[in-house]
Amino acid sequence: MDTPSPRQVNRRAFLDVSLRSAGIGLCGLALTAIVSSCESDDRIVAPSPSTGDKVDVDVTTIPELNTVGGAVRKAFVPNNNSQPVIIIRTGEETFAVFSAVCTHQGTLINVPTNGSDRMICPRHEEEFLVSTGEPQTDTAPTPLQRYTTAYNPTTHILRITF
Ligand code: FES
Repeated sequence: MDTPSPRQVNRRAFLDVSLRSAGIGLCGLALTAIVSSCESDDRIVAPSPSTGDKVDVDVTTIPELNTVGGAVRKAFVPNNNSQPVIIIRTGEETFAVFSAVCTHQGTLINVPTNGSDRMICPRHEEEFLVSTGEPQTDTAPTPLQRYTTAYNPTTHILRITF
């Protein structure tokens, strides 16, 4: 086998350094992509401003709302910027509808169960009152956004204005 010329050695060294740099660059890109995907999985949902969207909900089609104290979390895509709300039947003819987005860091709030007067955020356990949406500790800075509702007991239609 022939001994490589100095020019061939330089070319090999150049290619070696270039390929190693490219490998490091690709690893860096892969790491960036992985970190980005982790961040987006844990992304904070910003509360949606009022949109003026109106939706009519036939409450007889939602079993959770058939009894007083029942509640459900639901999104009406694309209304309300596709963000979910919590609907609570507070009386035979009264309902409360709140944004399901926690005002602390944007985690989705749990639906109150068994007629509880609290909606609990699973992330830092802030509790929001069903009656007002007010947080009960200093964790969340503001109440949950509450939406205007109108219920027609004859048609069982609940109109929500976002
Ligand atoms: S994100 Fe809800 S209490 Fe922190």
